[in-house]
Amino acid sequence: MKILAVLYNGFKAAKAEPRLLGTVENELGLRPYLESLGHEFYVTSDKEGPQSEFQKHIVDADILITTPFHPGYLTRPIMEKAKNLKLCVTAGVGSDHVDINAAVDHKIQVLEVTGSNVTSVAEHVVMSILNLVRNFVPAHEMIERGEWQVSDIARNAFDLEGKTVGTIGAGRIGYRVLQRLVPFDCKELLYFDYASLSAEREQAVGARRINDLQEFVSKCDVVTVNAPLHDGTRGLINKKLLSHFKKGAWLVNTARGAICEADDVAEALKSGHLNGYAGDVWNVQPAPKDHPWRQMKNPLGGGNGMTPHYSGTTLDAQARYAAGTKTILQNYFEGKPQNPADVIVGVGKVESASYGQR
Ligand code: NAI
Repeated sequence: MKILAVLYNGFKAAKAEPRLLGTVENELGLRPYLESLGHEFYVTSDKEGPQSEFQKHIVDADILITTPFHPGYLTRPIMEKAKNLKLCVTAGVGSDHVDINAAVDHKIQVLEVTGSNVTSVAEHVVMSILNLVRNFVPAHEMIERGEWQVSDIARNAFDLEGKTVGTIGAGRIGYRVLQRLVPFDCKELLYFDYASLSAEREQAVGARRINDLQEFVSKCDVVTVNAPLHDGTRGLINKKLLSHFKKGAWLVNTARGAICEADDVAEALKSGHLNGYAGDVWNVQPAPKDHPWRQMKNPLGGGNGMTPHYSGTTLDAQARYAAGTKTILQNYFEGKPQNPADVIVGVGKVESASYGQR
């Protein structure tokens, strides 16, 4: 079989650090395994446009492997050209780079390494909330500039204790965020999700579900987004919804950039309606140099906690998603059943309940 992987370039870092498995250089550690079985394995980072290596090689590939950090976007027109394609594996979590409905129509299975980096992301979310609420980034930048003016930082620094925090999506990541927030003694932990948590799981973290999104955001000091990107979440956080946020709220989005309207968020931060925005996901990746989220600030010159997309690609996470990708391939080659939690799209059917209510 021909297996095509679209990964990001790790350059010098990947040569020096073999645990950077999700790179073109280190190929998820899969080459010896795949070649021992006689498969052809082609790895590239070149993924944009009809002349890209991705589009050239997808035409006769049987299996596509890609990561959400540098995704090969598998659109319906590309699937139409990919006559042999039967399996698409996401080395990580989040398969929105695949047109799910088109995959159903083309009988292409879509699997991901469920759970492989959910703790990695949950930790990043809690860190980002604290960074924003405690005004950490401007404080650190002041130190690097050689200055010392405590009042300029403290005027916009708060405690997380006593604040209301809510997650949009209370699945694997959202629930882990709630678990990790328990010791901070927040005023309330809320969630918005069409799937309810069981009473035991709600009680374990002391969380309350709110069914109306506008009401939900209007109650939160901090909103964190932990739902997949699909038709029901694309552009969900826009000017209209932001107008229902508390003035001075903080927003953390490590789910997918396109869940938030980029210009509306930048405007809300600039006006001070949002006091801060943090996350690692962008509506275009790599984010262009002039993306508004790189430089956006609140009126006091802070409130920006953006990073490149790396929360789910710690070295610990890379080991897990590389191993999980191999297991999915092994199951596929040997005709063994897959872990049901990994199956987003089975043959001709969406199996995951997380990509919108169907
Ligand atoms: P999950 O499938 O365990 O949970 C997702 C939850 O979102 C489910 O409970 C689902 O019902 C809920 N949901 C779906 N649509 C919703 C909507 N319209 N409103 C409210 N809730 C909705 O997924 P998991 O593992 O928690 O991951 C969530 C997402 O996080 C992934 O799909 C991916 O986009 C993102 N992610 C980001 C990473 C990063 O490195 N920044 C790494 C891993 C995941």
